Amino acid sequence: MTLLLQLLAILRALHWSHWTLHWKVKGDPFYGDHLMYQRLYEAVVEEIDTLAEKIVGMYGSEAIHNLSVMADSHRFIAEHVRVVGGDEFACALSMEEHLQRALKTAYDELKASGELSLGMDDYLMATASAHETALYLLRQRRAKMASAKTAAYGDPYWMTAKYPGKDHKGNPFKKGDRVFYYPRTKTILTGPEAEQASRNFDAARFDEGY
Ligand SMILES: [Fe+2]
Repeated sequence: MTLLLQLLAILRALHWSHWTLHWKVKGDPFYGDHLMYQRLYEAVVEEIDTLAEKIVGMYGSEAIHNLSVMADSHRFIAEHVRVVGGDEFACALSMEEHLQRALKTAYDELKASGELSLGMDDYLMATASAHETALYLLRQRRAKMASAKTAAYGDPYWMTAKYPGKDHKGNPFKKGDRVFYYPRTKTILTGPEAEQASRNFDAARFDEGY
C-alpha cells in the first residue's frame, strides 16, 4: 500500500508541477510548450483518480490521508528542485524519469508479494506507457533547446583554465580548474552550472542520435 500511496503522491506532484510550467513557460516556442504542458497535466488527472479509487477499493477510504499525500508530493518536488537546480524544464524531465522507476518498483514488489491484481497490472502498464510518451515529448523538446543553443554558441567542451579568471556570472576560477567553454561566444561556465550544462549537452546529443 505504501508504494501505491507514494505513486499517488508522485502523480499529484507531476500534475501540480506540469500545470505550473504551463503558466510559466516563455520564449520560443512559447505556445507549443504551453500546450505540451497542458497535455501532460490534463492526462494525469484520470491516472490520479483511477489509482486513488483502486487504493480505496483495496484498502478502504482510511488508507488515503489528504495531508500526508500532499506532504509527500511536496517532498518529491522539493527533492527534484534541490538535485536538479532552478532549471524547471530539467526538473520536469527528472520527475518523469523518477515516475518510471517508481512504477517499475511498484509493479515488481506487488507481483513478488502476490498482491498484483489484473486490474492493477493493467493500470501500472498503461500509466508507464502514457508517461513514456511524456518522456518522448520532453526529450525531443530538450534536443531542440540544446541544438538551438549549440547553433548560437558553438559546441561546448571541457577545458583546463590556462589563466585564472571569472566565469560568465563573475565567479572566480583558478589556473588549472576545469571549466566548460562555449567557443563561439567565449562563454565560460564553472561549478554545478557547468556540470548541469555538460549533462544537458550530452543528453541532447544522445537524444538526437549522434
Ligand atoms: Fe491554461
